[in-house]
Amino acid sequence: MVDKARIMVVEDEAVISMEIQDRLARMGHSVCGTAASGDEAVSVATANHPDLILMDVQLRGDIDGVETAQRIRSRIEVPVIYLTAFADDRTVQRARETEPYGYLIKPFSEKELYAAIEMALYKHTMEEKLRESQRQFATTVRCIADCVIVTDTEMRITLMNPSAQSVTGWREEEALGLKLDAVLKIVDERTGKPFETPVAEVLEKRVALNMIGPVLLIRKNGERIPVEDSAAPMIDDVGRLTGAVMVFRDITERKRAEAAVKTAFDTLEERVRDQTAELRGSLDRLGRTVEGTIQALATMVEARDRYTAGHQVRVADLACEIAQQMGVAESRFGVIRIAGLIHDVGKVCVPIEILNKPAPLSPIEFEIVKQHPRAAYEVLEKIEFPWPIADIVLQHHERLDGSGYPSGLRGDQIHPEARILGVSDVVEAMSSHRPYRAALGTDRGLEAIVAGRGRLYDPQVVDACLRVFNQGGFHFRNIPSAPG
Ligand SMILES: [Fe+2]
Ligand SMILES: [Fe+2]
Repeated sequence: MVDKARIMVVEDEAVISMEIQDRLARMGHSVCGTAASGDEAVSVATANHPDLILMDVQLRGDIDGVETAQRIRSRIEVPVIYLTAFADDRTVQRARETEPYGYLIKPFSEKELYAAIEMALYKHTMEEKLRESQRQFATTVRCIADCVIVTDTEMRITLMNPSAQSVTGWREEEALGLKLDAVLKIVDERTGKPFETPVAEVLEKRVALNMIGPVLLIRKNGERIPVEDSAAPMIDDVGRLTGAVMVFRDITERKRAEAAVKTAFDTLEERVRDQTAELRGSLDRLGRTVEGTIQALATMVEARDRYTAGHQVRVADLACEIAQQMGVAESRFGVIRIAGLIHDVGKVCVPIEILNKPAPLSPIEFEIVKQHPRAAYEVLEKIEFPWPIADIVLQHHERLDGSGYPSGLRGDQIHPEARILGVSDVVEAMSSHRPYRAALGTDRGLEAIVAGRGRLYDPQVVDACLRVFNQGGFHFRNIPSAPG
């Protein structure tokens, strides 16, 4: 049984009203108000907020029970059960329009009254729960940063969150009830031809789908913006399809960043190719040793700007000291030294104005800077070294927890030499002057690697580095330098 309820009785015949009140008391319910006329019922109900109203259809006064119920329900949310001795079609029809929770024909038994009340209260509780979950769903959708459009099974829009409204340029009240394709106009980026959203297929196959791009969204004002999207069917508890939800986002900024990176990368690749060819030529002509080539490569990089001068030499010095402290075989020192001397060779691909920017980098600029390990790799893999120099240089910004770049490698996936180089690079970078700040000092560099010990940096390398400074009395060579 539903918990004891507060019930209001609207009945113009006093004897019947009393009888109903007695029955309610026997059932354990309380009567929170009575009324004999419609006007009285409206004011009592509004003041008392009953859980349920038993409403006689025939009432004293100007308005009948159906009209009274309409007025009450326009003010408060309450279930109504009609009571009547007459059940003509017109009355039933009018009553139905007020969404009654029950309809009892007088005279009715106590059992019938009991059942009608239980059903009405149960139904009302369930509806309240459903409304609450719908409210929560709508609130969640409205707070999502991605654009969300919900449709019914006929692809008519039933909800548009604020992000979807601002990206499409349509207000929710304009779009509600319209077919999705009237609001969400998508075209193929390459051909300009209309592109169907995946919603029709989602509704038909009942599976989530992504739109295969690249595509453009035509905003209400005709402007075209790149988007990516996905759609999923909405299926209720009993497996019934109730509509589809489409999620999409404006990827203008991302596209811009990708284009900038690609342009920079293309230029850089070209520049690196030329410079590599030049270096190779000089190597042939002068018959230099591998170390000589490396030195030339390093000098060439550093010659581009004053801040990078010396950084690579100092990183190489420290990396070798750490390797020695760790007991790495002497035969590996050469690899570590060479990798250190050229680890930032890829920076020839980074525009000089970004390298020398006297302020923190924007996300796009940082994306460009982050290309330097791969740019270096492209160059170095073509040079025949007897060691995996290209891989070590490629990985010098990888971190143990996968938060590094360019590949997000973790733990043992990172070359041991690259882990040594990574630590040396951070300590040198923090120790030295950078375009946008003065040198922070070696202590700050060591604090940084201790803070990241085990999470970002190999603990053995960090410990060895601390010993190099604290026990070995290591000092960086005094060459103007800067990091990367
Ligand atoms: Fe670097
Ligand atoms: Fe560096």
